[in-house]
Amino acid sequence: MTPTPMGTDPLDVDPIAAGAVRTVRRPRALRGSVSVPGDKSISHRAILHNAIAQGAARVENLGPGDDVRTSAACMRALGVNVQEIDRCTYLVQGRGLLGLAEPDDILDAGNSGTTARLLAGILAGQSFLTILSGDESLRSRPMDRVIDPLRAMGAEALGRRGDDYLPMAIRGGQLRGIDYTLPVASAQVKSCLLLAGAFAAGATHLREPAASRDHTERLLAAQGADITVDGLDIVVRGGRELRAVDITVPGDTSAAAFWVVAACIHPDAEITVTNIGLSEGRTGLLDVLQEMGADVRVENRRVVGGEPVGDVTARSSRLHGVAVGGDLIPRLIDEAPILAVAACFAEGATVISDAQELRYKESDRISVVAEELTKLGAEIAERPDGMVIAGARRLAGGAGDSHKDHRMAMALAVAGLVAEEPVSVGQARSVTISYPGFWDDLERLSRA
Ligand code: S3P
Repeated sequence: MTPTPMGTDPLDVDPIAAGAVRTVRRPRALRGSVSVPGDKSISHRAILHNAIAQGAARVENLGPGDDVRTSAACMRALGVNVQEIDRCTYLVQGRGLLGLAEPDDILDAGNSGTTARLLAGILAGQSFLTILSGDESLRSRPMDRVIDPLRAMGAEALGRRGDDYLPMAIRGGQLRGIDYTLPVASAQVKSCLLLAGAFAAGATHLREPAASRDHTERLLAAQGADITVDGLDIVVRGGRELRAVDITVPGDTSAAAFWVVAACIHPDAEITVTNIGLSEGRTGLLDVLQEMGADVRVENRRVVGGEPVGDVTARSSRLHGVAVGGDLIPRLIDEAPILAVAACFAEGATVISDAQELRYKESDRISVVAEELTKLGAEIAERPDGMVIAGARRLAGGAGDSHKDHRMAMALAVAGLVAEEPVSVGQARSVTISYPGFWDDLERLSRA
């Protein structure tokens, strides 16, 4: 066999594919306090919004995951000075709405749907050409949902396979506002169009079918944009320069979810997750767990950087199955894999419906959750828009695989903390997308 020259082994250059297998065993107890990384959604926005603002902004407690670093790298390629003071503190030197520069190569959004879709909104406001691509997973996720409305606003935008997928080419400028009802409740699409709306002449009026996370609206308002929100109706009037704002990013609600569920389903557990974001658009899982009978308490509610935060303590609980659907889904869209693990430990079935959007995430999270948890002994029936999980109050354990999806890796790891036999997690390094310290925190909490 020809030896592979150093640095050219594909496993060296693709950190997700390189993922080692991790084996997780049930500890006697799970105890402690954990501070999760800065919120990934807010971190992306802290970089992207400040890059097109006037002035400099300091961002603290930025999410340390690969996705957020991808947003920073894209902004650097567009001529923005994004200085890393340390892994979680950045200085962003805003260039104003029209100060970005044409990149001299394709922009790589990696695994990050938020980078690709929000950036597309900003690029639609620029008169130069940008080509945007991403990894294999991102190249299979729908982009027509942003390409179509951006074109309606006057941008030139093209994508692979009939304008549906990355790579996407955008040349914008001279946008006009639109009146648009989003076909799906998607914060990424909404945010893309609000950002484009900040460049457009006249008003951009958006209507959401259900409320999704509102970090973009909050930040645009803090930056002095002309934005009004009235229930599911949002209007932004473009052309006004944005102010740079310093941001301290709250802990990631979606990262906290893994520890909250772990504590609820382990027979001897108490975990406090400190300083996590508690905005309405993100707390669907906490509401569902409480409905399932979980002992989950929120304390020290306060406001940090314009976002509500608090400390959440979860303890061993006796859960029962519930029905989850409708307007709740966008409020827990990233928590479906870990909710499915919780449902395995409930008494009675849990039915998740109206969640077809799960099929368009980093993996198809309906089929992958069903496939992987079934391997561990769960009884799950896949449906087009969700799944039915028979709550057997146990999982046997076995070999699972993350499918290179960070939230699947973490959900399987939590399954390992409670299953009767060890759970091995294939492609375990995918956690670095949002939570590089996940395995260290797991070990610490297990050493109780
Ligand atoms: C995100 C919105 C959600 C979520 C994603 C991050 C965001 O996607 O799944 O992880 O930061 O706006 P959709 O809004 O497309 O459902």
